[in-house]
Amino acid sequence: MASFVGLVLAAGHGKRMKSTLPKVLHQVAGIPMIDHVVGVLVRSGASRTVVVVGYGGEVVEEHLAGRADVVWQKEQLGTGHAVLSAGPAFHGYDGNIVVMPGDVPLVTPETIEELVDNHANSENGATILTMHVEDPTGYGRIVRDSQGNVAAIIEHRDATEEIRAVREVNTGVFCFDKKKLFDALPCLSSQNEQGEYYLTDVIKVMISQGLSVGAVALQDASDGLGINSRVQLSEAELIMRNRKRGEMMECGVTMIDPSTTFIDANVEIGPDTIIMPFTVIAGNSKIGGSCNIGPYVYICDSEVGNECNIGPFSYLRPGTSLSDHVKVGDFVEIKKSSVGEGSKIPHLSYIGDTVMGSHVNIGAGTITCNYDGTTKNTTIIEDGAFVGANSNLVAPVKVGRDAYIATGSTVTSDVPQGALAIGRARQENKEGWVARSRAAQSSKEEK
Ligand code: UD1
Ligand code: CA
Repeated sequence: MASFVGLVLAAGHGKRMKSTLPKVLHQVAGIPMIDHVVGVLVRSGASRTVVVVGYGGEVVEEHLAGRADVVWQKEQLGTGHAVLSAGPAFHGYDGNIVVMPGDVPLVTPETIEELVDNHANSENGATILTMHVEDPTGYGRIVRDSQGNVAAIIEHRDATEEIRAVREVNTGVFCFDKKKLFDALPCLSSQNEQGEYYLTDVIKVMISQGLSVGAVALQDASDGLGINSRVQLSEAELIMRNRKRGEMMECGVTMIDPSTTFIDANVEIGPDTIIMPFTVIAGNSKIGGSCNIGPYVYICDSEVGNECNIGPFSYLRPGTSLSDHVKVGDFVEIKKSSVGEGSKIPHLSYIGDTVMGSHVNIGAGTITCNYDGTTKNTTIIEDGAFVGANSNLVAPVKVGRDAYIATGSTVTSDVPQGALAIGRARQENKEGWVARSRAAQSSKEEK
């Protein structure tokens, strides 16, 4: 495949989002839009990726730290001006450049590869990724001459009724010859409805310079959705979620009800895992094979081994790691803890900052008291320990191998290996107490 560099335009405010957050940081399937776009360039083989930032640029730059080079467009004077601002970053480079808007997160690496190959096999100054849509509102229209060659891109706002009827639109993704692009950019004018320097006008300029312009059309227009509003954000969310669910099922995951199963874009799940309805698996979670998960389970930034049972109603918070054959039952919350092979936390527990060995049994209602108001402390529960129901393990504390904790204990000091710890008041029975107290009550009422 032909080599290329990538340029992402992400300096705009995204006013139509009505948000203080820069548009490209809004998430689709749990990942900021900009990460989808940069990821697609990287996966399709870009030798370098540069991102133009401006509005909220500090936050975007910090977010990208180390994953892409950043250039600044101090004033947002249009997409053409944004590309021009990136000129110095490509000084001395001569070759193909793929330009992508930061708000088109659903394009696939295969599409970029096709676009670049198509461009590289032509003499074109530019090759446009286009798509055919039912409702072209807001997109730049692809205007073709009588031979069917691309003649221009006309922005919606600047288009006549006749041009607005065109259903072939610009996705905003282009492959350019870098030198020809930067030769054309100085010829842009801002004589348009928005008073901006449009990148799309480069097409007309190139054609007037005698260059040819090509187009590659998306097979599936939903891949080219541009996100300008919260409604479009939700449309992209649905498309990306469906795509992810499809991929997971292709990999051998069963979803009883895909429509209530939410899997973030970066999640990995092994084959023969069954996911029950109303389950969310978020962030960078990694789930093994042959697990049963759900219903009503939320897992975020956690790792789960093979053949685990999780749910119903369990919550795995970031930093949780379960080995194989672990059971996490109903109303159990686990945070930043590791759980060894075959251990069981079946009901109503909170386990936080804990290192738990294998084949541990945690009785119903057990809580690790990890926070003393200032610091988070660690609980260690070694292999084979048996923690009786409704116990409190006050961290820092260690329960030794094969130790037993009597039901209802509050454990404040370490339990040696193999010992039984009883940390509760001894029961006292007061014989005949009920009759005596009732008698006392009725004599009081008589008076
Ligand atoms: C743009 C295209 C339109 C195309 C559509 C596809 C232009 C003029 N129009 O329209 O033909 O159909 O995308 O989704 O290019 N940006 C900057 N600096 C600026 C202005 C914008 O970096 O000065 C960035 C934005 O952050 C955004 C991208 O460029 O990520 C596109 O800008 P946007 O305002 O969303 O353009 P559209 O109106 O959607
Ligand atoms: Ca847009």
